[in-house]
Amino acid sequence: KKKIILDCDPGMDDSMAIVMACKSEKLDVKAITTVNGNYPVEVTYVNARKVLEMVGRTDIPVGKGMGIPMVRDVPKDPFTHGKDGQAENFLPEPKMPLSEKHAVDLIIDTVKENAGDIYLIVTGPMTNIAMAMRKAPEIKDMISGIYAISGAFGLNKYAFANATGDTPQSEWNVYVDPEAAEIVYNSGVKLVALGLDVATHFDVNLTDSDMEALKNSNNKESKFLLQAISFVNGRGFEAYCTVIDCMAVGYAIDPTLVETITGRVGIETEGKLTLGNTVLDSRHHHVWENLPEIEIGAKADCGRFLNLLMDLVLA
Ligand code: BDR
Ligand code: CA
Repeated sequence: KKKIILDCDPGMDDSMAIVMACKSEKLDVKAITTVNGNYPVEVTYVNARKVLEMVGRTDIPVGKGMGIPMVRDVPKDPFTHGKDGQAENFLPEPKMPLSEKHAVDLIIDTVKENAGDIYLIVTGPMTNIAMAMRKAPEIKDMISGIYAISGAFGLNKYAFANATGDTPQSEWNVYVDPEAAEIVYNSGVKLVALGLDVATHFDVNLTDSDMEALKNSNNKESKFLLQAISFVNGRGFEAYCTVIDCMAVGYAIDPTLVETITGRVGIETEGKLTLGNTVLDSRHHHVWENLPEIEIGAKADCGRFLNLLMDLVLA
């Protein structure tokens, strides 16, 4: 089993990512850490525990993390996840305790306990991860890899922004905390960034038979997903919007689901129109050797990914 920490900002799609990670036999979820992003951390740390109770995994520690980005204020989320941040599923208030450790310390300690054998899945702004790397730089050498829903690299027609009305090419998670992203991208840890190019727009969608199977299923997570789909449909979005962050979990389970390219990427931390852009050296020119080299999701097998997701949700 691959040992993972899932750092997230649930969020309906982060919630589904938790479901997927907890139910996969290929993953061993060591901790879930929460951050400000889609909603304030006061909401996201509650939502993470609601999901763990839904899937019966209250053995996994949940840490409450950073409530504001490293140096900026909190921007407003343009893609609403509903009154409860979970597509108005209104899950019961969680009873399981919160970890006594701050998420940043939970990340540091969990990495150290599993040194050299742990991956981070990051589906929100990178504030907690960057803070952990600042507080305990030695953990950088102990992390096997980071799989993040992060950035927009202009690799295909789907690469457009979801951040705000002001920044036409920025992806939300980087936009919220570009300084944190800059630290993580430059950390030297192997990073796979699954951005707007592959994670937020799918070339196929859930099928009618998938929807039937969800309706016929009695488990709570199937009902959660159905409600989320009806919530986003009601707002003019397609079903796959409910499972964006699941792509990072899918990649952790089966890396053949996404083809990646290697490229040098800089994070824009200043521009009026470009704040939060992930600027890719698309010419692979040696003059950009000052920028960190990362793996970037270029093409996803969305059909196979959705099959994996369905198998886990229905299981
Ligand atoms: C990100 O935006 C958020 O709304 C989703 O949870 C996802 O992590 C994609 O840009
Ligand atoms: Ca998210």
